[in-house]
Amino acid sequence: MVEIIAEDDGLPYSDVGAWAEDKYALVGLYDRLFSTGMKNKWPTRVYIDLYSGPGFVRVRSTGRMMVSSPLLALGVPNPFDKFIFCESQPALLEALRARVNRLSPKADASFVLGDCNEKVEEICAQIPSPSTGGGVLTFCFVDPYDISIRFSTVKRLSAYHIDFLCLLALHQDANRNIKRYLSPRSSKVEKFLGLPGWRQSWRAAENQRISFPRFLAEEYSREMEKLEYLPVSWDRMRQVRSDERNLPLYRLALFSRHQRAYQFWDEVLHYSSDQRTFEF
Ligand SMILES: C[S@@+](CC[C@H](N)C(=O)[O-])C[C@H]1O[C@@H](n2cnc3c(N)ncnc32)[C@H](O)[C@@H]1O
Repeated sequence: MVEIIAEDDGLPYSDVGAWAEDKYALVGLYDRLFSTGMKNKWPTRVYIDLYSGPGFVRVRSTGRMMVSSPLLALGVPNPFDKFIFCESQPALLEALRARVNRLSPKADASFVLGDCNEKVEEICAQIPSPSTGGGVLTFCFVDPYDISIRFSTVKRLSAYHIDFLCLLALHQDANRNIKRYLSPRSSKVEKFLGLPGWRQSWRAAENQRISFPRFLAEEYSREMEKLEYLPVSWDRMRQVRSDERNLPLYRLALFSRHQRAYQFWDEVLHYSSDQRTFEF
């Protein structure tokens, strides 16, 4: 096991809000439960981070350095066999590469530069093929700032044995920009849901007084069901609130075709309260 301690190592890091501590606690615990729980069932376990960032972040309000999603995955006790990191900012990807090489030089890691939506074939090409008698299971973390992850990207990846933990930016992006996204000139929601006719469904939902974030979450789950993922209710999508004004920011939703993954997720939810950061 690699013990990773965040420090200022002279390489670029991202600044984050204190609420991100909650996200790291949740995804870090899920990484551990997944990699340990699946190690005897799946000979090859792969971790994909579509929106990697540089590996270390600094909490704006406190100056505290923290380990972020790619290096949380690198540090689990029962290591993943393969890592695929995608990041659109060259300097952040290079910082991540340098940290991975320093902290775990033997890790099998691929670094994909660019928009994950455009680079999905390159990402898929890095997923190992199943060897005879053994399967490959992938865990994919999807952590964008907004609703820029296209459904077509998730659909392409769903051709593999793959679970997704998705940050759905339903409040901080979708709800805040609802007017812009409703404009016929915007294709943002259409690409996010993969549904050209979404405006009509939204009008029906609005008449039933369903909120825009909830409408998007439920449509998303329905689209995932078409890819044979188990349905995920709104309540099971973990809400994360801003520490500054206590407003909801996003929901973290797990999508898997197997009940076992939801048992891990329930454990994660059990150890976390609605907003408090927890130690593990
Ligand atoms: C919310 S941050 C998340 C970083 C990381 N997952 C973490 O735990 O802190 C999103 C990251 O994705 C990168 N990014 C933005 N759009 C992207 C895209 N279309 N494809 C890949 N990376 C992208 C940003 O530069 C940023 O580093």
